[in-house]
Amino acid sequence: MEGMLEAVLTFILIYGPAMVANGSPVFVLRGRRGHPIDFGKTWVDGRRVLGDGKTFEGFLIGVAAALLTGIVVGIPVARGVLGLEASTALWTSFFSGLGAMLGDVVKSFFKRRLGRERGSKLLVADQLDFYVGATLLVYLCNICPNPSLPMFATGALFIFVLHIATNKFAKKMGWKKVPW
Ligand code: CTP
Ligand code: MG
Repeated sequence: MEGMLEAVLTFILIYGPAMVANGSPVFVLRGRRGHPIDFGKTWVDGRRVLGDGKTFEGFLIGVAAALLTGIVVGIPVARGVLGLEASTALWTSFFSGLGAMLGDVVKSFFKRRLGRERGSKLLVADQLDFYVGATLLVYLCNICPNPSLPMFATGALFIFVLHIATNKFAKKMGWKKVPW
């Protein structure tokens, strides 16, 4: 049972910042427009490189929100329960948040190449882009705790379901035009 609690807290330490990063742009911006990361430019296929849904503001809000999550949740969990340094928690939240936002951008790039417009639905990719991105960057950070394969797989299922539920909520609140 103790191993289970430790696994859940490690999951929160690693992926809490990514989850908050992923949700915060739409929550903070609430329909306001930022400056597109692709500067409005199109790719050789004539479609937008990333689209208006990926902005500098959104990206920075995401990374900042991840760091804040690391300070508020990650540090107490790391120091109080897991026996890790505060700096480890901070770096983990940074890589987790940065990976989440990069994963989201990479997803949008391929979504546009598939000819799907901004805000269109792409099942699995829309739900797990940030999760995969966060996992990769946390792996690249050699002081960050890494998820085990069972943790990653269980987490993917959990994130998939949670993402669909929270996006339905965001749509209901009028923050998103579409429920995905
Ligand atoms: N957002 C942003 N900048 C980012 C990520 C998100 O401004 N780097 C904001 C945008 O307003 C975006 C909203 O958060 O519309 C929801 O994000 P997401 O679902 O990832 O974007 P979509 O609009 O669905 O675009 P895409 O089809 O490219 O995923
Ligand atoms: Mg989307």
